[in-house]
Amino acid sequence: MQSRHLIDLSDLTPDEWEDITALACDIRGHLDDYYGTCRGRILATLFYEPSTRTQMSFQTAMLRLGGRIIGFDNPANSSVAKGETLKDTVRVVSGYADIIAMRHPVAGAAFAASLYSRVPVINAGDGGHLHPTQTLTDLVTLRNEKGTFSGLCIGLCGDLKNGRTVHSLIKAMAHFPDNRFVLISTPDLGVPSYIKDFLSAAGCRYEEADNLMEAMPQLDVLYMTRIQQERFFNEEDYLRLKGCYALDEKLLQLAPPTMPVLHPLPRIDEIKPDVDNDPRAAYFDQVHNGVYIRMAIILALLGIPDPLTGKKVLESL
Ligand code: NCD
Repeated sequence: MQSRHLIDLSDLTPDEWEDITALACDIRGHLDDYYGTCRGRILATLFYEPSTRTQMSFQTAMLRLGGRIIGFDNPANSSVAKGETLKDTVRVVSGYADIIAMRHPVAGAAFAASLYSRVPVINAGDGGHLHPTQTLTDLVTLRNEKGTFSGLCIGLCGDLKNGRTVHSLIKAMAHFPDNRFVLISTPDLGVPSYIKDFLSAAGCRYEEADNLMEAMPQLDVLYMTRIQQERFFNEEDYLRLKGCYALDEKLLQLAPPTMPVLHPLPRIDEIKPDVDNDPRAAYFDQVHNGVYIRMAIILALLGIPDPLTGKKVLESL
């Protein structure tokens, strides 16, 4: 049987996203029942870029399933430093591990890796392009917070140009009916044109705005993001734009009382600490959902049945 990879969410159907997010919710409620389902399996985390949450939540997910982990978080400590190509590294590691989670600064790198891997490859972020497992995390959080993926007015604010979590989330939410997007950024940090083309082709309504305060009252969800310093070509541009959005408790007063605030984290200064105690601050719950969703993704891609139902998550495996 050929491996199924998760490079872009379009590698799964929207029904499968729903099945995986539903499984993550079941895992959250019955964590101990899933221990041992991955006994004898190995996850490799190949992280060519810094990460706290994504890497550690993948590792935690595999450990909580009873599996083991290998990998690197600094390619300078691997044969990459000797000049080994991505292709060779993946060929080698896919002979060691049962599944690979990979983060890389170059857009398309995870897809390239999947071409040479004998085991499923999960894109844990490829440059400023995509971050599908963060989006599944966001979907679990939306499911808990709003109970639906449809009919929502979704505000996304910050670095919409370089934020890969933004691109994956927009692409996912455009699949569900009657969602509307308010894209809040400075003109320099607007979403790339391929994302706008995607929205237009999907028949989704969207507007671009630069004022968070004015946009706030109409939103059902607000997704904040940091300015992605590492994607800027020069420091001057970053310094000019850093701090351009700052959500504080005063600004949040303008939002509907049921509008959750999501953020993939890390935050820098775009959400002030006084927001943390507001019941609408959903970002720390969101980060914990990252473990349950990654447990569900590992089970799904390895074709391991859900111990509670005896069913595999992805029919084709
Ligand atoms: C995001 C990422 O790496 O793209 N972080 C994460 O995975 N939770 C967001 C970011 O770095 O701003």
